[in-house]
Amino acid sequence: MKESKLTETQGHVSASNNATGSTLDSGAPAVSDRNSLSVGSNGPLLLHDVRLVETLAHFNRERVPERNPHAKGAGAFGVFETTEDVSRYTKAALFQKGARTEMLARFSTVAGEQGSPDTWRDVRGFALKFYTSEGNYDLVGNNTPVFFVRDPMKFPHFIRSQKRLPGTGLRDHNMQWDFWTLNPESAHQVTYLMGDRGLPRTWRHMNGYGSHTYMWVNAQGERFWVKYHFKTNQGIECMTDEEAERLAGTDADFHRRDLAEAIERGEYPSWTLYVQVMPYEDAKNYRFNPFDLTKVWPHSDYPLIKVGTMTLNRNPENFFAEIEQAAFAPSNLVPGIGVSPDKMLLGRTFAYADAQRARIGTNYFQLPVNKPKVPTNSYTFDGHMTYEHSGTAPVYAPNSYGRGWSDETGPVEDGWEADGELVRSAYELHPEDDDFTQPGTLVREVFDDAQRERFVRTVAGHLADGVVEPVLSRAFQYWRNVDENIGERIEKAYYEIKK
Ligand code: NDP
Ligand code: HEM
Repeated sequence: MKESKLTETQGHVSASNNATGSTLDSGAPAVSDRNSLSVGSNGPLLLHDVRLVETLAHFNRERVPERNPHAKGAGAFGVFETTEDVSRYTKAALFQKGARTEMLARFSTVAGEQGSPDTWRDVRGFALKFYTSEGNYDLVGNNTPVFFVRDPMKFPHFIRSQKRLPGTGLRDHNMQWDFWTLNPESAHQVTYLMGDRGLPRTWRHMNGYGSHTYMWVNAQGERFWVKYHFKTNQGIECMTDEEAERLAGTDADFHRRDLAEAIERGEYPSWTLYVQVMPYEDAKNYRFNPFDLTKVWPHSDYPLIKVGTMTLNRNPENFFAEIEQAAFAPSNLVPGIGVSPDKMLLGRTFAYADAQRARIGTNYFQLPVNKPKVPTNSYTFDGHMTYEHSGTAPVYAPNSYGRGWSDETGPVEDGWEADGELVRSAYELHPEDDDFTQPGTLVREVFDDAQRERFVRTVAGHLADGVVEPVLSRAFQYWRNVDENIGERIEKAYYEIKK
């Protein structure tokens, strides 16, 4: 073949390179990052071009699966400071007055994929990881105090109904409303979602809620039920549908950018943590089932008690390493904090670590972002990509060679009494339990006239965008159940849009 006269840089802008050059993954010098090895300039490529093979092969493997729900998000590091004395409720080290705990927060949308716009109307994730002196504590919450369903069996079905149609791969309002109206316990969360707070202006301008009821245990072994409320110190700010739609087209990463740039400017967002505390015995006879995730505890019953402040002050240095590979799990608990009989929470204690073993890898907890800042001795060993090994220490318990193991017996300190036959059943109803009272209160007593009007227009607009019979009639009835008047207004607004 004729010798080519092409210069090495033809077709490229020649960049100066004063560094010492790159290496292969093996550490040996990589001869070229520009030209693959060929037989003559125009000739075929060679399999022994180790650099080319390594480059193409690794590129094929440089993504991990996105999170199934909550795929699109971002986060930042910071600190949680306990400013008040809540030791009468919990002995957890991070909640003792004066404690300062390093932490990570990740905010997200639920239904959209990795590249989806931040400003689609959706619930926002509010996931926190505290690197405490007693191990990692994760509080994986949302920007809403309630949720769509109250049994974990329904969760995968709910998420699928919010994502895409199996045939066309399109998002579909009819599927969303079909699920919601067939599961009327969703009404409280859907009311919240279709209200102003379904479109937060930024992640900095929204509250975070633990949503579930958790247990706190104090140093004397007394137990309490708690709900977490992180109130934004930036103030609540929301967005109109029109602005959100415009931004979805012009800046899909609007919320991600806002957080990163605010921290870059030194404007560190902060939230004040409050808890509602219910004495252990109150749960049995409280007017609402206190473990039902579709209900709040009215503030007048259990007022907010201040705990401390969370401040985000450091952007990640590498998004993939520190945000994509971050693994938040409701099963990451510390002494003084436990779960409750909330069935959703109990389901979640399995789901997250399992998802992360699959999504990131068996030993995801050894990565720096997930690694506790205290020594561990967990008796889980080896497996894919393990980095930490047992050395010569015993890998079994009990053993005679100095490796500690745990051996508590008897009632657990963060447990509760349970008895009865094995059944498949909804929760027992407490006196005021139903699916529509609390969303009705939200619409009638919390929203003002202008908010109610926006709410009616949002719901009617959503229904007008693809919802068909029999789902449509069921949706009108769903809102009449929440509030007769609001239901009528929604139906009227729908037919006006359709005129
Ligand atoms: P309150 O009047 O004491 O509380 C109402 C709360 O509603 C406010 O404190 C605020 O919560 C929240 N809120 C205000 N505006 C909106 C809005 N546009 N969209 C959604 N939430 C808003 O009454 P109750 O505690 O008796 O609760 C009444 C209803 O308020 C409940 O049925 C529930 O729907 C809703 N709510 C209650 C919460 C609770 O934990 N009790 C929390 C959030 C909402 P915040 O201070 O957290 O911003
Ligand atoms: C993410 C399951 C309910 C908040 C996830 C993930 C799974 C999951 C598998 C992805 C985890 C990962 O790949 O790292 C479930 C199940 C639920 C449930 C089975 C019910 C039974 C909830 C509830 C909330 C919530 C009630 C809020 C109160 C979140 C958040 C994330 C998430 C914020 C993203 C965490 C992050 O930023 O990495 N969920 N979920 N989920 N879930 Fe849930």
